Amino acid sequence: MLDISPVAKTFATMRILSGIQPSGRLHLGNYFGMMEPAIRLQDEGEAYYFIADYHSLTSIHDPSVLRDNVRDVAIDFLACGLDPGKAVFFRQSDVPEVTELTWILSTLTPMGLLERCHSYKDKIAQGISPSHGLFAYPVLMAADILIYNSELVPVGKDQKQHIEVTRDLAQKFNDRYGEGEPLLHIPEPRIAEDSAAVPGLDGRKMSKSYNNTIGIFEDAKALKKKVMRITTDSTPMEDPKNPDDSYIIMLYQLVATADEVEEMKADFRKGGQGYGHFKKQLLDKLTEYFAPMREKRDELANNDAFVEEVLQQGAKQARIVARETLDRVRKAVGL
Ligand code: ADP
Ligand code: TRP
Repeated sequence: MLDISPVAKTFATMRILSGIQPSGRLHLGNYFGMMEPAIRLQDEGEAYYFIADYHSLTSIHDPSVLRDNVRDVAIDFLACGLDPGKAVFFRQSDVPEVTELTWILSTLTPMGLLERCHSYKDKIAQGISPSHGLFAYPVLMAADILIYNSELVPVGKDQKQHIEVTRDLAQKFNDRYGEGEPLLHIPEPRIAEDSAAVPGLDGRKMSKSYNNTIGIFEDAKALKKKVMRITTDSTPMEDPKNPDDSYIIMLYQLVATADEVEEMKADFRKGGQGYGHFKKQLLDKLTEYFAPMREKRDELANNDAFVEEVLQQGAKQARIVARETLDRVRKAVGL
């Protein structure tokens, strides 16, 4: 059983925060771009991680789908190593104070700042309906970060601009209301550069909107089918192959040791083996890498009460910090 005692850290007090949207099954891009770095950081400070369900309302309009996705993300994150004894883990919407801070921040958010955000245009291009919520999404994200006095925010590359918006808004708030005192802490992003863009089956960035993902907890048959679908060139089996731009190797690097990667690269150059052979090696490594997490996932999937308890406890702790920041902000603006 996991320990869910309150976070007690005396030696490391850096506040780390990140969120993930419950918008579908998690894939290798989510794992290596955001979850794994976040999980590693839980040992380096006081980590606050949450499931961004308010954000997902911009794209999911079926309540039962939203609820199921939140449950899945909670289970997946815990199975992958988020330790509720070390990190505070909660549902964004269990701390409604964040929406009040969002409104206050939105009154000082210049329209031009939001108009420059790529993600709004990208999401509309993907077919998500253009709502005010989607447009104002970075302000909610800024409130998420600022309400917990976050210092470090581990995210994928695509979220970097949102952290810049957050920094801008915090600075604006401090300039307008701070009277020389920084009321809101200015956070730093932590971008996982080496895995900043995990390629999908077709070599484009792995993303559910490109339908090119490999799920972390894909069943064996589906996983095999997907790995076999990875795009390669048509070099014949006996010829030497170029390892430098192979998506098989890019994915293999994420789950294999440096020696294993070198060995595969050498085998590429040698020739005599087809891509199917290398895909099989990748498949075996992926299966091996996620096996312990899969086991944990099965255990958690049968223990909804425990998962719910973790989220409730997390929300209770998060809410204390959020209330304190919101009270300070309300007072500063004259409410
Ligand atoms: P998707 O592109 O599938 O919709 P999200 O936008 O929900 O994924 O991403 C959630 C988190 O996972 C973000 O922090 C994002 O940066 C990270 N992430 C998503 N896809 C990748 C990828 N291919 N490589 C690295 N990080 C990724
Ligand atoms: N926008 C992030 C994403 O789509 C999720 C998110 C919401 C987030 N609020 C956050 C990430 C605060 C970091 C910090 O991936």
